[in-house]
Amino acid sequence: MTKAKRMMQEDIKLIDLVIELLDARVPLASRNPDIDEIAGSKSRLILLNKSDMADSSVTDEWYKYFTDQGLYVCKVNSRNAADMKQISAIVQQACAAKIERDKKRGIRNRPVRAMVVGIPNVGKSTFINTYARKAAAKTGNKPGVTKGKQWIKLGSNLELLDTPGILWPKFEDQSVGLKLALIGSIKDEIMNIEELSLELIKMLQERYPGMLEKYYEAGIEETDSALVILEKIARARGCIKAGAELDYLKAANLILENYRNGKIGKISLEGPNG
Ligand code: G4P
Repeated sequence: MTKAKRMMQEDIKLIDLVIELLDARVPLASRNPDIDEIAGSKSRLILLNKSDMADSSVTDEWYKYFTDQGLYVCKVNSRNAADMKQISAIVQQACAAKIERDKKRGIRNRPVRAMVVGIPNVGKSTFINTYARKAAAKTGNKPGVTKGKQWIKLGSNLELLDTPGILWPKFEDQSVGLKLALIGSIKDEIMNIEELSLELIKMLQERYPGMLEKYYEAGIEETDSALVILEKIARARGCIKAGAELDYLKAANLILENYRNGKIGKISLEGPNG
């Protein structure tokens, strides 16, 4: 077992609720399935984060997919403070059984302790910062119980461990790596940019026909190959090298950037049914 995983298992002993962040655009690719084993019997809340960049109808399908598995789910944009309001209520629901158990033992108003987990770049720090921005106060170490741990107190009924647990993506098949590269979770330096942009073009043509043409107005036809589309976009956007040769790399970078900035549209790269 890796050190990170061992540490997370230690942290999990201290908490009641695991808040798992997934990228709403690629919820399965951004999920480490080990979380089921790591979280054990703790209450679970899934945040479909970056939902501002995802296709809302597909995010709704994911909401149902995870809810059907008995998990609590919230769609959020962690950059938006207004989205945080819904969290506290759902945390109480997710931990209702624990709160009930406490009551039976005569323990009242013991705050729910939660921990945020997710793969790098999914938005863990952003979520913690936005959620904690108001009403939050860091509590010191509580001797014997939470030695060395910092808790962020959120109102009177929730405490959040201030360091998130980092899970690593599982590259079970090539498409997982591809999707994570497309959303910008894997460094571009280790990817072939032109290949990546061609894969993106293929996915967009399949999942969102007409979307690339709407944005680039490059004369893209539905039957065009990905390479022809890249060429058309290079021409339409003036990606030309000295000697009037098309600059494919520049066009590829442009498409990836436009996609990641949300300029091309609200796009989900996977749905529960493919
Ligand atoms: P991590 O702790 O899980 O590694 O992720 P982190 O919070 O650092 O977030 C990674 C990037 O994702 C940040 O952008 C952050 O602003 C962005 N982000 C997080 N949540 C959301 C969300 O719900 N919607 C959108 N649109 N973006 C989100 P960055 O470009 O690395 O930095 P910056 O632009 O914030 O400076």
